[in-house]
Amino acid sequence: MLPTETVYGLAANGLDTIAVQKIFNLKGRPATNPVILHVSNIGEASKYAYFDEKAKKLADQYWPGPLTLLLRKKDVVPEITTAGLSTVGVRSPSNDVFQDMLACLKFPLAAPSANPSNRTSPTSPHQVLEMFGNSCPPIFDDGPTDLGIESTILNLTSKLPIILRFGHISQLEIEKCLDQPVSTLIDSHNLNSKLHKSPGMSKVHYAPKTFSVLHETIDACMEYKNFTPNDLIISHSSRDIKRFQDLPCKAIAFSTNGGLEEIARCMYRKLHDADKAKFNQLHLCLNDSDDDLALAINDRIRRACAQKT
Ligand code: TXA
Ligand code: MG
Repeated sequence: MLPTETVYGLAANGLDTIAVQKIFNLKGRPATNPVILHVSNIGEASKYAYFDEKAKKLADQYWPGPLTLLLRKKDVVPEITTAGLSTVGVRSPSNDVFQDMLACLKFPLAAPSANPSNRTSPTSPHQVLEMFGNSCPPIFDDGPTDLGIESTILNLTSKLPIILRFGHISQLEIEKCLDQPVSTLIDSHNLNSKLHKSPGMSKVHYAPKTFSVLHETIDACMEYKNFTPNDLIISHSSRDIKRFQDLPCKAIAFSTNGGLEEIARCMYRKLHDADKAKFNQLHLCLNDSDDDLALAINDRIRRACAQKT
């Protein structure tokens, strides 16, 4: 278990079928959901993926950092890593511990988020340990992660580059760097092409164990009629909390002042803590900012509230 700047990862040799199988087993991850390869730099990445001009531009600007590029894979990458797809996700994380580890190795590290499949990603070693218990492999404790939510995933193998997962690197930043429009899954909502899908992007993902109710706005949350004393509202800013004081439930916030970076950094920890406290239900509101990072935050909030059917 290794820290990255986004979330902790469950790392193993991405070129070794048996090692990658162990990741799938421990996470309970379906074999149809590929894992991404972590590398130290562009030179390493191009051993495993066909790096074109666009990929190079983006990696020059944003690596090491929270941007995963989906590219055509080279034969050396085993099928299990990419779940049989012809593309591979590559990213160079900026965490020093992870980079030092890569510098000592002669292979890339496959590293999905270090949570059992469909649970909230961990941003601290405690969360990793709590989720895996006795079957937890050694964890490198680097304290809480710097950024919080997972990397932006950009598919560069489609005609128009498409963002498959929102993260800290925004659509606008990518468009500026490539000097061309970039689409998102929201734009291509009705497209059914395989290229526009990320196998791990099922609706039920990143979910707390506690049943979680989605409210479009704080006002909508205030109007909810069925709060119990053991319900918990998690709003975005502690400044909102006084608005909830007359409701018959508890309320906390993801951040002190509503700053999006603090929300991203703290949200998974607050969701893990809420799970541990065994509330009856959680209530989460969408963030009303039109900043790009709010898209990533709201994406995770929607997924946290998407219950298994
Ligand atoms: O920030 C992150 O990206 C973290 C840290 C540990 O690096 N990693 C992470 O990995 O979030 P994971 O496996 O939890 O999420 C990667 C997502 C999955 O939803 C997977 O389906 C998608 O990337 N993915 C990986 N390879 C893909 C491919 N070839 N085609 C489409 N989607 C892919
Ligand atoms: Mg994950």
